[in-house]
Amino acid sequence: MAKSGKIYYCQNCGTRHTQWMGQCPVCKQWNTIVEEVVSRRDVKKGAAAPAPKRVRTLRLTDIDGQSGRRLTTSDSELDTVLGGGLVPGSVTLLGGEPGIGKSTLLLQAALRMPYKVLYVSGEESPAQIKMRARRLGMDENNRVLILPETHMQTILPEAQREQPQVIVVDSIQTLHTDYVDSSPGSVSQIRETAAEWIRYAKETGTPVLLIGHITKEGVIAGPKVLEHMVDTVLQFEGDRYHRFRILRALKNRYGNTREIGLYEMTAKGLEPVQNPSGIIPGTHGEASGTALGMVSEGVRSFAVETQALVSPSVYGTPQRSVTGYDLKRLHMILAVLEKRAGMRLLQNDVFLNITGGLRITDTALDLAVAAALISSYEDEPLPPDTAFMGEIGLTGEIRPVSGDARQALHEAAKIGIRKIYVSAHQSLESVPDGLEVVRWMKVSQLYHLF
Ligand code: TYD
Ligand code: MG
Repeated sequence: MAKSGKIYYCQNCGTRHTQWMGQCPVCKQWNTIVEEVVSRRDVKKGAAAPAPKRVRTLRLTDIDGQSGRRLTTSDSELDTVLGGGLVPGSVTLLGGEPGIGKSTLLLQAALRMPYKVLYVSGEESPAQIKMRARRLGMDENNRVLILPETHMQTILPEAQREQPQVIVVDSIQTLHTDYVDSSPGSVSQIRETAAEWIRYAKETGTPVLLIGHITKEGVIAGPKVLEHMVDTVLQFEGDRYHRFRILRALKNRYGNTREIGLYEMTAKGLEPVQNPSGIIPGTHGEASGTALGMVSEGVRSFAVETQALVSPSVYGTPQRSVTGYDLKRLHMILAVLEKRAGMRLLQNDVFLNITGGLRITDTALDLAVAAALISSYEDEPLPPDTAFMGEIGLTGEIRPVSGDARQALHEAAKIGIRKIYVSAHQSLESVPDGLEVVRWMKVSQLYHLF
């Protein structure tokens, strides 16, 4: 029998409320709470895992370890971020802002995979998908089945009939199921359709990749609730107006979350970036306010260019703006430079930019950020062919980096860096020929460069 009740969900963070409110008390967003009528028909509301028909306990020795075998996506970056390929029966959510390249990434992976793939598309028509496949140079592929459908009760029987080895869903926000009355894209629809995919994946052992749009704030819109339900959450980031994209794992039940994938958006789809340091344009050392930093993201070490602009404020309150780095981290570095290195920034606007549209989380970039800031403040370029690698502590000390310093040094030498500034406490096993390592204690020593 149908049973229905009124439930209120915040469309931003997915929190369930018992009554309507103007502001969500959890995420503090206004006008995001909407009423969703959830009716439960004969079928039980989707639990994360289906109830087994016959309960049976297992010994570890009874379990077939072979089921842990992974399926390659034929995309080296995607495989690495997943922890070595797709795990049978796993559900992966790929989040990212509209236009960043999620559909491109998964369509090209689907076309290259040596498996029968079902590509469920609620976003684009078959003709549009065909055009994209042609652009990717793979429209002759006949292993990928396109299903332009958004109704779960139509999709699932089709999947059961075709028995694909991998399923891609573009996107979870477009789907709707009969078991919930609210509109597609609402929290209860997203939760229920995802639960149905999870059930399908676990029952059939088919890996399912779900695309989900995220909002500007970096929250997977509405389906934040999904993060807890799925096995793996990947995020595709970058600036849609730049060429480079980073793929990160935010959660991974089958691997670590340190690995990243780097891509370049080209006219023929997303190409893996083999040499990340190639991203840097090579203007460093010529203009004031630019510094090269060596960072490690996951197992990759590469150089990034930081650009700073410190200029007198026009308005009463000085502005601090950052692209590609943590704003709070910039505030911290500015406070340390004021207190420990005698800079006076209260009358200045500060802009910081990581070039290439990359977003860096590694704090090893702190020293390069500080160097770029001082260089702009002094309006003096930094010496050419130098790089920086070190975290900055609150007392103004330069701290050693936790990533793979050896690989970072090799990468630095490879791109022609002659001198690198690191923490006095940095442990280094070997230093490549032609690279001079300078060990510093305090961030104020940056002034020695001018
Ligand atoms: P898309 O995959 O549609 O983004 P999403 O699914 O995340 O919304 O693609 C985003 C952009 O990529 C789009 O503006 C066009 C561009 N693009 C290329 O530059 N090269 C290509 O080969 C393809 C297929 C797309
Ligand atoms: Mg898309």
